[in-house]
Amino acid sequence: MNLHASKLPFLLLLLFITTSNRFPMIKAPFPGSLGLEHIDPTLPPVLPGQTPKCSALVLQQDFGGIVGSTLASANYSHPRECPFPWTRVVLELSIAASEVQKHRIAAVWIDGAEVLRSTTPVPMVQGAAFWKVQKDVTRYSALLRQFGVMYMMLENSQDAYPGVYSANVSLHFYRNAVEQTNILGVTTSHPTIKGHYREPADLILPISNKNGYTGSGFWLMINDESHVATSAIKIPMNAYQAMLEIFVSYHGTDENWYTNPLGASNLGQPSNPFSQGTNGGFRQIYATIDDKFVGGHIPFAVIYPGAINPSFWSPVASIGAFDMPSYYLEVTPFLSLLLDGQKHRFGLGVRDAQPYWLVTANLHLWIDQFSDSCKAELVQYNLPPLKITRNAEWTSVEGESEIIAEGFQRYEGWVVSSKGNLTTIVEHKIKFTSKVEVHNQGLVKQVEMTNKETAQVKVLRDQQQLQLAELTREGPLRVRTLSPSAPVGRMFARETILFHYLEETLSLSENQATRTRRLMDRQDAEGSTLMLDGNPVWENGSTRSYYNYRDEMTCYIREVNAAGGIVMMDKSASCAAVSDV
Ligand SMILES: *[C@@H]1O[C@H](CO)[C@@H](O)[C@H](O)[C@H]1NC(C)=O
Ligand SMILES: *[C@@H]1O[C@H](CO)[C@@H](O)[C@H](O)[C@H]1NC(C)=O
Ligand SMILES: *[C@@H]1O[C@H](CO)[C@@H](O)[C@H](O)[C@H]1NC(C)=O
Ligand SMILES: *[C@@H]1O[C@H](CO)[C@@H](O)[C@H](O)[C@H]1NC(C)=O
Repeated sequence: MNLHASKLPFLLLLLFITTSNRFPMIKAPFPGSLGLEHIDPTLPPVLPGQTPKCSALVLQQDFGGIVGSTLASANYSHPRECPFPWTRVVLELSIAASEVQKHRIAAVWIDGAEVLRSTTPVPMVQGAAFWKVQKDVTRYSALLRQFGVMYMMLENSQDAYPGVYSANVSLHFYRNAVEQTNILGVTTSHPTIKGHYREPADLILPISNKNGYTGSGFWLMINDESHVATSAIKIPMNAYQAMLEIFVSYHGTDENWYTNPLGASNLGQPSNPFSQGTNGGFRQIYATIDDKFVGGHIPFAVIYPGAINPSFWSPVASIGAFDMPSYYLEVTPFLSLLLDGQKHRFGLGVRDAQPYWLVTANLHLWIDQFSDSCKAELVQYNLPPLKITRNAEWTSVEGESEIIAEGFQRYEGWVVSSKGNLTTIVEHKIKFTSKVEVHNQGLVKQVEMTNKETAQVKVLRDQQQLQLAELTREGPLRVRTLSPSAPVGRMFARETILFHYLEETLSLSENQATRTRRLMDRQDAEGSTLMLDGNPVWENGSTRSYYNYRDEMTCYIREVNAAGGIVMMDKSASCAAVSDV
């Protein structure tokens, strides 16, 4: 990432020879002490013009490389003038980086339950940077209504880069009506559309490292696919609805899992350069209850700020990097396994994982105040493992590999509470492909991933449908890397073209009405990297981001174009205002 000015003329000359002269110099850092602002162009959780009733700065910490400063904690209680309930609560993480630093992973927990997983951007130019992450945390009201401890972890090191991260975590509480961006319930769409749950859960129980407060953080580490991290928890016997929310991030060998080719040795073929540590671009995160598989998702490929070509993500964050998506599993049909007043073992695993993944989960529970205990039964359990086809064909320098994963799952259960005897039927379909091709003696590499999941949750009472929620999520990714020529000495240049997309649609039918909300988040980027001895020494790139969210009441568009570390265009509007463009 460092640009060594003295090498520049030589590098530019080399580039001129090997490609064309489309490589302007990186501009100087922005003037001013705060440095460059990094942005995540998604729907703001509360539209401008709405002031919170109360705001509280809960946690403040500088994360340098000093041991002992990684896990920060602060006592939390909501402001006295803003008692529960709230129409909206927004968590704001505001960070300033003093100088250049690598991307790092960060998380915020309340009493051991995760509320935010985030990555820090990589400033492209020498100097400081700052950014803000705003997340709607209304769905964690159960954690926020009581006195508790907020923790934040950001493992930094100053060994290679000097940057120190100064972080503030604040909470903004809203009472009275907030603008109707959330007609389908209290959850909003930042950055992804959440489930069909109308009200925040009454109780949230963490599935995380119980000793996290001692300094290691609350995440559980997964090292390989045989490893299932577990935590035993007991739930109240009067829970009538349950949802498991899983947080993940990937590190070490798996930091860029989504571009991984499948090595021939994984298929028992003779070894070749593509055999080592290359178990393909497929992963599935899943959960178990007492060793019974209760569902899983293919993670959305959040591209870390230092990945592929860091200049793509500066100053515009990649999709989901500031607020990494969490993954919902509707587990109400499994309540019969849990309503006996005993502890049960919840497990989290990652299929095909390599070292290492950091995972946690929150069990959201809705409690029936009018009953001492609920009765439940699992009526149908049809959760076969995904059907996976793996192919790989490599010579020493070229070849291709492909993984196709498909599956359909259906499970059904009823729960009797004061709301009646409600049957929940869940259907979940997954279709995934990952294809990696290497051509032209290794000079061209292409990664193509498609991922489409649909989930349907139906709630019935006396065979009558009360609610039907349908969620669709697609997350295709294409990365094409081309080296215009073979390495010249210790150097070579690389051009990358990237397309990444997230589309989520939720439609909810209830009382003869169907309401739909949809978000599209798309990024197209292209740029160049100059490699010296296998390490990038110079990068330049441009990114176009297009974000569109709409429901019955709101329509929001944000378009940001950035090039060479500078925002060239930034437009946001309601759709009505731009519909004639
Ligand atoms: C939090 O409150 C407890 C007492 O309730 C106190 O012992 C502890 O020192 C406080 N922690 C911080 C970080 O202020
Ligand atoms: C954190 O809050 C303090 C006090 O309000 C403020 O001076 C500082 O600039 C804030 N830092 C960031 C990164 O927002
Ligand atoms: C609840 O409803 C289901 C499906 O209609 C039925 O099979 C079950 O027996 C009912 N449970 C109770 C306790 O009535
Ligand atoms: C490189 O950066 C400059 C701005 O310094 C920009 O104008 C140009 O389009 C960038 N090149 C590419 C390939 O993105």
